[in-house]
Parts: sequence; structure tokens; C-alpha cells
Amino acid sequence: MGVKKILTPNNTKRDYRQISKNYRPPLSTSSTDPRINDKITKMLLESLEIHNFRNLNGKMSFGSGLNILVGENGHGKTNWLEAIYLLGLTRSFKTAKLTEAIRFGERLTIVSGMVRESPEITRKLQVAVEGNTKTLSINDKKETVQRYLGQMHVVIFNADELEIIRGAPDARRRFLDGGIVSLHPPFVQTLADYNRVLRQKNSLLISARDNEYSLEKTSELLAPWNEQLASLSARIHRARVRFVERINEVLEKKLFAREELSIRYLSSLEGKGDLAHYEALIAERLGLRVQAELVAGHALIGTHRDDLAVSFDGHDIRRFGSSGQQRSALLLLQLANIAVFNATRGEYPLFLLDDIDAELDYRRIGQLLEYLEGKTQTFVTTSKESFVERFDAHASVFDVREGLAEERRK
Ligand SMILES: Nc1ncnc2c1ncn2[C@@H]1O[C@H](COP(=O)(O)OP(=O)(O)OP(=O)(O)O)[C@@H](O)[C@H]1O
Ligand SMILES: [Mg+2]
Repeated sequence: MGVKKILTPNNTKRDYRQISKNYRPPLSTSSTDPRINDKITKMLLESLEIHNFRNLNGKMSFGSGLNILVGENGHGKTNWLEAIYLLGLTRSFKTAKLTEAIRFGERLTIVSGMVRESPEITRKLQVAVEGNTKTLSINDKKETVQRYLGQMHVVIFNADELEIIRGAPDARRRFLDGGIVSLHPPFVQTLADYNRVLRQKNSLLISARDNEYSLEKTSELLAPWNEQLASLSARIHRARVRFVERINEVLEKKLFAREELSIRYLSSLEGKGDLAHYEALIAERLGLRVQAELVAGHALIGTHRDDLAVSFDGHDIRRFGSSGQQRSALLLLQLANIAVFNATRGEYPLFLLDDIDAELDYRRIGQLLEYLEGKTQTFVTTSKESFVERFDAHASVFDVREGLAEERRK
């Protein structure tokens, strides 16, 4: 790892993270919030301030452990989680069009939050969306997305995320890629480059087909794109295989059920040659399949065709798993993701669980919250008062009404 430095308030975030694995918090801290004391090995969102984000407005201060947002349907619980997610990852889990999240009739939304990264240091993160323009800033200074990402990592569990287990391979590739980016933000650029090359290759294949180019001419035109695809695919393949290995190392294979969960990266080149020499293999396949790609009119070879196999006791969970087994599997993958993040960065991401009691039974929720205690700062939403009664012992509870969240005094 990197060179170890002494922690001072002047160290940058990255410096802090380099030493954070070995750092032990002092017994008394200078934190102004009594709830935030020795919990330094996790990211802490101390407060969130909202201007015109969906039906929300106002400010919220959070507890460092479990935060329960309770309220009737349609009052804004999920919106609060979406705002936290946006602040951390600069996108929404509900929509690809961020303009939709601006309050009806308004032009600008601002979500900002104070993140504590050590007893001495807090950082102000802000995401502003005006029309189609998104502006990111740290401590009121404008930043690029690459520099911004990684300031506050967030993992979400909700019904949509079940696509990772139940849906098409692209959801699983997104799960892997998102995990890798959280550990290594510049990987965003590798993915963007890959997608750009893929688009360009596809449009070339379409025009080659429309213009009835010969195989030879098509091969010649494709060569520079294939070269880039081979090298980018090799990078993506290596990163994903490594990430899956790391997930496997920490996967609590049987936390919620009797059956054993296992995952395996499934390269689309499996059975085609020696995957240990991936770049040579893919280069060879790209050369051999020009005719097929010409007929198809799009790229048939590369990491955009890969998948992640998820199985329980050796059976494909997507086809044979019950709904409860699928939910448990997703949760186990996300917990593993969180553990890998912690092992690499020395801190825990925030964990958001939307409509938790619709997705999991109380027994599993109990096990889960116990597992998370002392690890992540956790945010759950529920519309059931019985949930609050059962799990509020170590929690901060917020009533969400018409977009406003008010902390309940116990
Ligand atoms: N762009 C927007 N501007 C204003 N209000 C919006 C916007 N988008 C959504 N809303 C409002 O947000 C509310 C829904 O909020 P949210 O989904 O957070 O509710 P919830 O408390 O999670 O409900 P449930 O318990 O049903 O999940 C709706 O009243 C909807 O009209
Ligand atoms: Mg909701």
C-alpha cells in the first residue's frame, strides 16, 4: 500500500485513507456531536440539507448507527434515501434523468451534506442539478466526477436491486463495475472508454453491412477498434475476476439460510481457449468472428457479453431460487461488497435499505441489523410502527411527513 503518514488536519482525504486501516481513534475526540465519537472507521453523514429535491426540503441530522425513517406511503421516505444516494454517487437509483428529481415547477435542486471523515475533519459535499447540468462540489469548490466519487460511498438494498439476482446479465455487470469503481474510481474511465469504442465499432459494422463492404475491407476498418477493445476488455476482465475473488473471500455464504451461496465470473470466452492469456485469446476471437459480427451488425465479442453466475447449493438462483432466497442472496452479495470496501479503504460505506420490511421478514432483519451494528451507518425506511417498536433500541427515529423529517425524541 501507500506510504504511511501521520494524521493531521491538513492531510487530504486520500492520506487519511492510506493510514486509516492502522489508525486507532483517540479516547476523547473533538467531535461536536456526542453521537459521533469513536466510530471513525466508517463514513458518517452527519447532516443533509435539501433544497427542492422532489417533495423534500429542510435539514436532517443523523445518528451514527441505525437511522429509521418511518411514515405513511407517499410522504418522502424513499426520496430522502435517494437524496443520500445522489450525494454519494452523483446519480439516482430511481431515474436516469436527474431533472425528474427537481421539485415540480422548479429549475434547481441542491443536495448538500456534511461528511465526517475523522474526528477532526468534516467535508461538505454538494450536488446541484439545474436543467440538464449537474454540478459537484467539495467544500464549495467545484470538482470533477472522478475526484468527487469515493468521498462518500453508498450501497442500497431495494426491490429494484433484485435485478442483480433476477434480471439480465447487464444488472450483474453493473453490480461488479459499481463495486470496482468504489474501490478504484478511475475505473469509471475504463468503462467509459470501452462503451465509446463499442459504440464506434457498432456504427462501423452497420455502415459496413449497409454498404456491403467485403470481409477484407471490414476487417481492415475494424482493426484499430478491435485492438482497443482487446486491451480494454482485458483490463475489465482482470478487474472483474479479481473483484469476484475478493467477494468470495468474505462472502458469508450461509448467513440467512441453510443453502450455500456461491458466485463465479462467467466470461463469454469460456470454452474458447486459455483465459489465463485473455488478451491474446480475445484478439484471436475478434479476428475470427468478423464475418459473424458483420452479419449481426453489432459487436459480439467482449466483456459486454459477460455475466456473473450466482447459485445456491450449486443451482442457478435466478431460475430455481425462491423469492426469499433471492433476497437473501442479494443481501449477502451487498454485505460482501461492503466488507471488501472496508478491507480496501479502511472504512464502511453507508447502507440504505428501502422498504426493508416489505423485502425481508423480521427474523432476517434482526440478523442483518445485528451484523451491521458497529459497522455501517445504516438508513432504513418503513411504514410500520411495529417495526420501530421492535428495532428502535439503538436507533435514531425520524417521522417523515409531507417531505419533512423530524427526529423523534424517545
Ligand atoms: N419531482 C418531484 N417534485 C415534487 N414531488 C415529487 C417529485 N417526485 C416525486 N414527488 C412526490 O414524492 C412523493 C413520493 O415520495 P416517496 O416515494 O419518497 O414516498 P415514500 O414515503 O417512500 O412512500 P412509500 O411508503 O409508498 O414507499 C409523492 O408524493 C410524489 O408526488
Ligand atoms: Mg418508498
